[in-house]
Amino acid sequence: MGITSCCRCFILALLWFQSQGCLEEERAALLQIKDSMNSSESSAFSNWYVEECCDWEGVECDPSHTRIHKIFFPHLRSDSEPWFPNATLFAQFKDLQELELPGNHIGGFISIHVFRKLKHLRKLNLRDNSI
Ligand SMILES: *[C@@H]1O[C@H](CO)[C@@H](O)[C@H](O)[C@H]1NC(C)=O
Ligand SMILES: *[C@@H]1O[C@H](CO)[C@@H](O)[C@H](O)[C@H]1NC(C)=O
Repeated sequence: MGITSCCRCFILALLWFQSQGCLEEERAALLQIKDSMNSSESSAFSNWYVEECCDWEGVECDPSHTRIHKIFFPHLRSDSEPWFPNATLFAQFKDLQELELPGNHIGGFISIHVFRKLKHLRKLNLRDNSI
């Protein structure tokens, strides 16, 4: 193996390594969603300080660990004021397949039409809300 191919391998390995990990825009959207929930359930977001947001409580990424596939936030709001999540934030998750937000006093969504952008969504659970 020559120097060039060795070098190429190294660069490929580096690119592969960098592609692991959740995307910045998805990470930012998750944090905004969390803030808008005004949740006092400290245990629910207990590991949301780790760098890799694919490992965060309540979310799951695709097997290559880049894009969020699944969001599961059940009964996380003790605040009984209705929550009006901004659908634009959920539209950041372009590969989202499952969105489960049961029991969160959701009163409705802001910009609900944006959900049409979620082409891969196959499960939407909004049970026990006030929509
Ligand atoms: C967030 O929760 C606190 C305490 O439960 C409450 O006082 C506050 O009004 C809430 N804020 C919003 C924006 O709902
Ligand atoms: C919804 O979220 C988007 C993206 O963060 C933002 O640009 C927009 O102003 C938000 N809409 C409302 C009504 O807060």
